[in-house]
This record gives sequence, C-alpha cells and structure tokens, in this order.
Amino acid sequence: MRPNTVAKFAATLLLPLALAPAFAADSTVELAKARKCFSCHKTSTPSYGPSFQQIARRYHGMANADTMLADEIKTGTDPHWIVNKHWGTTDMPPSVLRAPVTDEEAKQLATWVLSHNK
Ligand code: HEC
Repeated sequence: MRPNTVAKFAATLLLPLALAPAFAADSTVELAKARKCFSCHKTSTPSYGPSFQQIARRYHGMANADTMLADEIKTGTDPHWIVNKHWGTTDMPPSVLRAPVTDEEAKQLATWVLSHNK
C-alpha cells in the first residue's frame, strides 16, 4: 500500500475507536438516570448524597476504588459494613431498595463515577 492509502486506512480504523469512549459515557449517563442515581446525587454539588465529583476526587488513585464503589453501588453503605458512612451520617440504601443494578452495571457505574475527577 502507498503511504497515503495506509494513512486513510489507519484513519478509518481509528475514528470509531476515538468515538467509542464518548458513546460509552453517554450510555452510562442514561443508565445512571434509569437506575435513579440522580435522585440522590448530582454531578458537582452535594445533595442527599455526595456529588459524583466529590466521590471521584476522594478515591482517585486509590487501589481497588472501582471494586469498592461497585460493591457499594450494589449493596449500599450499610451500618454493618466495617467501613461505612464515608460522607456523614446517611447510608446509601442497598440497590434492592432503590432501582436494582446488576454486577455489570455496578462496575460500569463505578468506573463512570470515578471519571468525574475533574
Ligand atoms: C436514596 C438515595 C440514593 C440513591 C438512589 C443513590 N445513592 Fe449513592 N449515596 C447515597 C448516600 C446518602 C451516600 C453517602 C453514604 C455514606 O456516607 O457512606 C451515597 C454514596 C455513594 C457513593 C460513594 C460511596 C463511598 O464509599 O464513599 C457512590 C459511588 C454512589 N453513592 C453511587 C451511586 C450510584 C451509581 C447510584 C445509582 C445506581 C446511587 N449512588 C444511588 C444515596 C443514594
């Protein structure tokens, strides 16, 4: 292939890859809406729960933050947890008492919450 053709070929391959994260973020926002996350959380201001930005800033760079948050997105922050109530005196109820999330959704939402570190 000539260099020009190679460049065009590469661009065709890379464009969808460049766009994919943007679509993934959009669909996670839709998921968060569907699972009622925004009834207690806002993006940048604290409401009933901490803002997604506060959460991302606190746990940014912490090992296993995504696993810990995915667990809590599923089971809530119950009083019986060894580490609980990270933000004050209010629990996040378990997902069965909110809009239930699957394990996969909890992981996806945890990664998305952590991406608010801006
Ligand atoms: C009924 C209200 C409510 C709903 C609905 C809710 N949360 Fe929460 N969330 C809270 C409260 C309150 C806290 C603070 C709990 C604490 O201090 O431990 C919290 C904390 C969190 C945390 C931080 C946990 C930590 O260890 O610091 C994450 C992440 C989170 N919520 C994500 C979500 C996501 C994603 C959804 C949607 C699936 C959701 N929340 C739905 C009330 C809610």
